Amino acid sequence: MNAINSGVDAVGIVIAAGRGSRMRSRIPKPLHTLAGRELIRYPIAVLQACGISRLVVVVSPENKDAISGVLGNQAVYAVQATPEGTADAVACGLRVLPEIPHLVVILAGDTPLVRPESILGLMANHQTDPARRMTILTAPDAYGPDLGHIKRAARDGKDGPGDLAGIEEAADRAEPDYGLAEVNTGVYCFDGSWLADRIRTVPKSAGGELYLTALAAMAVDAGDAVEAASIAMADEAMGVNDREQLAAAGAVLRDRVNRFWMAAGVTLVDPGATYIDLDVQIGQDTVIQPNTMLTGATTVGEECEIGPNACVSDSAIGDRCRIVASTLEESRVEDDVEIGPYSHLRPGAWIQASAHLGNYVEVKNSRVGPGTAAGHFCYLGDSDIGDGVNIGAGTITCNYDGVDKHQTVIGRRAFIGSDTMLVAPVSVGDGAATGAGAVVTRDVPEGRRAVGVPARLLPQQQSGSD
Ligand code: UD1
Ligand code: MG
Repeated sequence: MNAINSGVDAVGIVIAAGRGSRMRSRIPKPLHTLAGRELIRYPIAVLQACGISRLVVVVSPENKDAISGVLGNQAVYAVQATPEGTADAVACGLRVLPEIPHLVVILAGDTPLVRPESILGLMANHQTDPARRMTILTAPDAYGPDLGHIKRAARDGKDGPGDLAGIEEAADRAEPDYGLAEVNTGVYCFDGSWLADRIRTVPKSAGGELYLTALAAMAVDAGDAVEAASIAMADEAMGVNDREQLAAAGAVLRDRVNRFWMAAGVTLVDPGATYIDLDVQIGQDTVIQPNTMLTGATTVGEECEIGPNACVSDSAIGDRCRIVASTLEESRVEDDVEIGPYSHLRPGAWIQASAHLGNYVEVKNSRVGPGTAAGHFCYLGDSDIGDGVNIGAGTITCNYDGVDKHQTVIGRRAFIGSDTMLVAPVSVGDGAATGAGAVVTRDVPEGRRAVGVPARLLPQQQSGSD
């Protein structure tokens, strides 16, 4: 996204100090996640994409540490001591500014679906009239029984929407309104000085709250220029106030992400059963089979086939890999690797080019060299395995002695017989071999063969007589 407004004297304020009680959660609402990102990161990313780099986040004493832990120095923080309403939250945000900017753009911390395009449109709309004091981003014909609804004056037979009259909050509606309406997205662009002046005069609502939205009717009454820019799409207005809305927003976001990747040349066999986090990257002509989750900072190369039933988190996968019904966590997989079904790569697994991991193979904190094959159930932990090694079925690196973890080293082109126990620390040299069922407690030198329990070395053989 181009930072096309970077020249504008604008500050973004994100209000996130509410109780979030409708979530019924011990976790602060801004820390709940959607598509791998905490809710609070959405408004921040969107404002940054609009070229607004001066950001204030209004936090509560309870969620301050958690939010600043996620955002770090991307924003400055204003603490709202008690959640007295959205107007009070904005007043707190303004107080930490060294000077009042020309424009103040306000977002809620719980509307993750607002797009940068809409905010840029809102700012452009606001700036069409030098006298404009307040512009509200609204979505026409949206479903929002718990959202603020835009009230407009009757048109007296004229075409088009009537003039803005105010915003009616759900709590103040006489009857629940489940119909479509022009709804308030909770995104606003203000003239900074006007906002700083008027925010102090917002009256309490019937329920005793200080509504930011009251400023709309106040501006209308005072004859100040205020508009509702009805340019957002209906789904952008979806707020996350409870778990049901969290799931609904997640579904919309998933659909957006999936359509993005299909447009970029990735096949999703069943987009409805494909879960791709926002920060994932996928190469061209990769095919994602159903029931696949690509999460966190995962990258997938070109021409791969992932799934069905694959869960890949925070991992890097090269080109032309095939991963079936397996779980990969914090792992690295180079080009042309085959994994699965039913294998598990745990953190620190590094599978080099053209390696093959078949059924029920668990790898943790280990390098598996190029072209090495472990075709059937085994555990490879804390090990360094060279290229072209054959790991027989049932091989286990016994890396834990009950107190400490130890390393297993297997040299190039070694042959590990089925059911070998490698009692670490231990090494098997280049071209060495172990017999089926060997329990290897001592190093096996290069080219030698160890068999039995505990394993003993067989006499060295003449070359060519193997
Ligand atoms: C608010 C708007 C509503 C709009 C909707 C969009 C008001 C009065 N209503 O309703 O018109 O349609 O957002 O999603 O503004 N917050 C504080 N301090 C407070 C209260 C709230 O920081 O004292 C923060 C919350 O953390 C949240 C945001 O303000 O991020 C909105 O508050 P919320 O209670 O979710 O308001 P809505 O009922 O969604
Ligand atoms: Mg809300």
